[in-house]
Amino acid sequence: MAKKLHIKTYGCQMNVYDSDRMADVLAPLGYSASDNATDADMVIINTCHIREKAAEKVFSELGRLRKWKEGQRLQGRDVKIAVAGCVAQAEGQEISRRAPWVDVVVGPQAYHRLPELITDIDPASRNAVIDTDFPVEDKFDFLPEEHTPRGPAAFLSVQEGCDKFCTFCVVPYTRGAEFSRPAASILTEARRLVDNGSVELSLLGQNVNAWAGEAPDGRDWDFARLLRELAEIDGLKRLRYTTSHPKDMTLDLIHAHAEIPQLMPYLHLPVQAGSDRILDAMNRHHSRDDYFRIIDQLRDVCPDMALSGDFIVGFPGETDRDFADTLNLIDRVGYASAYSFKYSPRPGTPASMRDDQVDEGVKSERLAGLQQLINAQQLAFNKAKVGDVMDVLIERPANKDNQKAGRSPWMQAVHFPATTGEIGDIVSLRITDAHQNSLSAEMV
Ligand code: 5AD
Ligand code: SF4
Repeated sequence: MAKKLHIKTYGCQMNVYDSDRMADVLAPLGYSASDNATDADMVIINTCHIREKAAEKVFSELGRLRKWKEGQRLQGRDVKIAVAGCVAQAEGQEISRRAPWVDVVVGPQAYHRLPELITDIDPASRNAVIDTDFPVEDKFDFLPEEHTPRGPAAFLSVQEGCDKFCTFCVVPYTRGAEFSRPAASILTEARRLVDNGSVELSLLGQNVNAWAGEAPDGRDWDFARLLRELAEIDGLKRLRYTTSHPKDMTLDLIHAHAEIPQLMPYLHLPVQAGSDRILDAMNRHHSRDDYFRIIDQLRDVCPDMALSGDFIVGFPGETDRDFADTLNLIDRVGYASAYSFKYSPRPGTPASMRDDQVDEGVKSERLAGLQQLINAQQLAFNKAKVGDVMDVLIERPANKDNQKAGRSPWMQAVHFPATTGEIGDIVSLRITDAHQNSLSAEMV
């Protein structure tokens, strides 16, 4: 009988991709994805560990799931609970100890083994089946084909892990060392996604532009070369990639933005802070001027390039003056959007052990100031598009009646009348209005 699988995803786009892949792995066992947790036969929570209280959130979610599982048992249903993702990786034993009703704990590098792990569940045991090993094998060799089409805009994981060891970040510990998937396996998945109707691919990696992998002919390619090869796929109309590190922004990759027509003029290039002193303490391996140089080169070859970034305020030792440097950097770059966070000490990371932590109140104040500036830049960026005609990829029906929603080349959400084109089409629309987080448009 068909069984229902509900996956709740937290965190980054990589987790969204991994959740879809877990559904693919479980499809041969008769599980089909469901939006509804209540009548599911198995619930997976795919967790994120990047910022504070991640573990506590997971445990309170697990508390709710315990009641659900008990309720189902009283109705004679044997349901399963799995915890996946970076909290599973970091706190596997602790999860099994504190939440013995969890059946499986699986790290991001082991989820291709989910079918075996599920078979290993012993209903009489109070211990979860735990697999948080880093792979002895390439999990991508074991992942089945996509079970369901991914829609017009699909994610494709090409690189995982990180060797950069920014002093605030848990990723090198939870996702492991940098690993680049071989080009042949990426190209095969990309062709399959396009064959199944995706017209835009977003290549994913914690350090995507550090990708360096084996080419189909056994030689080595760098990331710019991989993009060029992907752009040859018939029917692939848009290419994006995220997240990039400034240190790996090679000249060749910058020039690729001028040369590859499918490469969208939008780049997420986190800088985290604007003061050299803090960049150094963060172990970012680049200066503020290095970052400006990259932005200038990008805008030289691609004048309409829009930038997005990540910022951390209140890193240990950050002074008012350091923070002013961050605001000044933002002012100078001009962002189309950005994510910003209060520094959050992560267990085991060097910055968490410093004794010059910044006061929470100061962090909140700085975050509010920074977000005000970013929001103003984002609104100005959106407003500057009013009256323009641009290509929009139609992605889905909008939440509002009689509307559809899509994306501009610059990642802006665009809303327009539902009578416009079909899902998956790229249509030419005139922008009629701009808002903080979206644009309104009409047929030309
Ligand atoms: N505290 C706050 N923000 C963090 N990030 C990563 N680690 C931390 C931390 N300890 C942010 C960075 C990164 C984004 C994914 O999350 O800005 O680019
Ligand atoms: Fe974390 Fe830095 Fe690696 Fe990004 S580059 S994943 S912030 S350690």
